[in-house]
Amino acid sequence: MKACFMGLGYIGLPTAIIAAKHGIQVVGVDINPKVVEMTNQGKLHIIEPGMEDMLQEVVKTGSLKAATVPEVSDAYFMVVPTPFKGNHEPDISYVEAATRAVLPLLKEGDLYVIESTSPVGTTDKMKDLIFSERPELTDKIYIAYCPERVLPGNVIYELIHNDRVIGGMDDSSTDKAISFYSQFVQGTLHRTNCKTAEMCKLTENSSRDVQIAFANELSLICDKAGINVWELINLANKHPRVNILQPGCGVGGHCIAVDPYFITAEFPMESKIIGQAREINNYKSFWCAEKVQNEMLKFELEHHRKPCVAMMGLAFKPNIDDLRESPAKYIVTKVMQSCNNANILVVEPNVKEHNVFKLTDYKEAYEKADIIVFLTAHEPFKNLDCREDKVILDFCGIFKK
Ligand SMILES: NC(=O)c1ccc[n+]([C@@H]2O[C@H](COP(=O)([O-])OP(=O)(O)OC[C@H]3O[C@@H](n4cnc5c(N)ncnc54)[C@H](O)[C@@H]3O)[C@@H](O)[C@H]2O)c1
Repeated sequence: MKACFMGLGYIGLPTAIIAAKHGIQVVGVDINPKVVEMTNQGKLHIIEPGMEDMLQEVVKTGSLKAATVPEVSDAYFMVVPTPFKGNHEPDISYVEAATRAVLPLLKEGDLYVIESTSPVGTTDKMKDLIFSERPELTDKIYIAYCPERVLPGNVIYELIHNDRVIGGMDDSSTDKAISFYSQFVQGTLHRTNCKTAEMCKLTENSSRDVQIAFANELSLICDKAGINVWELINLANKHPRVNILQPGCGVGGHCIAVDPYFITAEFPMESKIIGQAREINNYKSFWCAEKVQNEMLKFELEHHRKPCVAMMGLAFKPNIDDLRESPAKYIVTKVMQSCNNANILVVEPNVKEHNVFKLTDYKEAYEKADIIVFLTAHEPFKNLDCREDKVILDFCGIFKK
């Protein structure tokens, strides 16, 4: 069996590697030649613990090779980005471009799967596209949607052990897709139709967004009321049926901060809580930036000099290097713009260099700065002493007490 993975990013590359490890002949395709070159050299272009050794092994044995164009295969997987446009409308143009690229190669009996998080109806749209361009294949290929749920940083384990939802355009497509994934997935493969599978992925991430919004809303209330939100949530969670998440400086990444818009764009009248949650989580980032600016002003009035501020963390969540849709990045940018970049030390221990921000070592920044702003709860930050001589704005619970 030969499989072609379109997109070698955070999801496509690990999936291609795991498939190759399980005896599938894999061609991984990416439009970025640098990604292709690095992959063929056995070098990971993403950070994922334990994955580089596996990549080197599958490249060496020849079971995985990367290319900039697809090759004739038995199964094709679309694992390309699905961002939103300026107006929060989903942008499925990458899925369409990847589908168009494999269209001429499709033959009877092939399996075509979309893994990209997609608005409801995308699989049907791609089915229509395929059958309008290749009418002779109508009802002769298998089409399914199978979303990915892995947690970056724990991808190898989760790709194999997580349950997956698989929705075909018909029963035989679902069967065909299940038989492909069962080659390497040990979790249960749950069958459904493609619309439900698409909505399931959006529902999972919207549910997280709504729950985080609740925690963030509590943090705003507690700030006004003079209550330690971390203590409050800890106490409330002692109730046997309460499980409140932790607040932060917003919600980022290209899943939870994006996918709910795929629902609100299509169902604006019905998706009230989902829309509100997005607004609360976005507002929390704006509020954090304002808080930092106010603290800087207060410091200047008290000390008759501008403060040095350490902005701790740029990634959208702890212990990763992923800065996409990061609320921390937004806050740092907003604060820097407000003071003409003066005396701001930007820290991100998981990134070596950045094309916009000059990065400072976290211990050095902590030592030098007057105001410390914790934006991302990276593990090394938790080993710092909570110093009384610093103004500390802890938006992510580093020093929970
Ligand atoms: N990152 C996650 O944690 C995660 C989790 C679940 C689902 N998803 C979803 O999976 C999909 C992929 O996400 P990702 O994080 O891997 O994205 P990514 O940006 O890391 O990787 C996508 C890759 O696709 C390539 N690409 C773009 N257009 C292409 C084309 N026409 N042909 C071939 N390659 C092309 C890009 O160059 C890039 O390397 C998205 O829909 C995302 O929402 C991501």
